[in-house]
Amino acid sequence: MVTINGKEIAAAVRSVLKEEVAALKAAHGLTPGLAVVLVGENPASKVYVRNKAKACAEVGIRSFQHLLHEKAAQEDILGLVRELNESKDVHGILVQMPLPPQIDSAAVLEAISPDKDADGFHPCNMGRLMAGMPSLQPCTPLGIMRLIEHTGTDISGKDAVVVGRSNIVGKPIALMLLARSATVTICHSKTADIAKRISGADIVIAALGRPEFIKGDWIKKGAVVIDVGINRLNDGRLVGDVEFGGASKRASFITPVPGGVGPMTIAMLLQNTVTAARLQAGITV
Ligand code: GUN
Repeated sequence: MVTINGKEIAAAVRSVLKEEVAALKAAHGLTPGLAVVLVGENPASKVYVRNKAKACAEVGIRSFQHLLHEKAAQEDILGLVRELNESKDVHGILVQMPLPPQIDSAAVLEAISPDKDADGFHPCNMGRLMAGMPSLQPCTPLGIMRLIEHTGTDISGKDAVVVGRSNIVGKPIALMLLARSATVTICHSKTADIAKRISGADIVIAALGRPEFIKGDWIKKGAVVIDVGINRLNDGRLVGDVEFGGASKRASFITPVPGGVGPMTIAMLLQNTVTAARLQAGITV
């Protein structure tokens, strides 16, 4: 079994991006910019936003933080998004989720210009992904695809089981695997006998958000296991959605938690920002 080192792979992605950003500046006077909108005081969101700004600075992407009050009105956020849509310095826009309960999140996501949709959450980009058209794609699934590619696994013809059906991970990763000719099954909380389905999978994507739900002995010998879960236990330990100890004895490749998928998500956000900047500037090479 090989543990997939997401930290190292993400660092390599960032280092390539850093060169690319420097080249864009030198050749075109273009500095990619990412605007991050945070509404309220959610402690986890504050950490994510800080990490995103730090990662931007490291590769030379300009970042703009917009902090709105917990009680902000829908129109305040929509007004800010419209402003950012128009800004020449901003190529990517990210509104940190979750938003406070008074806000209609779907309406906010839909207000972001699809060309600046760094998260790939706009229905237009989701539809393009479904149709197999080029688009800005969600960061975590993009990161997962990079990790699988890094293992050298030929995805075509493999049985992939995705556990979780969120718009952020489950649905888009299923579409990406399908586009690469895997046979994809999506499992969720109502699926009968998940263990049986997982035991037939060559590729397992665990994105359901329940600590160590997927047991080691469910994993087929030689499977590639990607664990998207990050769960804090009462004793303070951080664990994934997969029972790592048992699964690692059977898998050919497996991601650890932390240090697997997590670092890739931010790296792909930076990549999407650079891609968006290129597209908006009409730079194709
Ligand atoms: N909250 C948790 N993950 C994400 C993400 O990838 N993007 C946004 N915008 N909010 C999040």
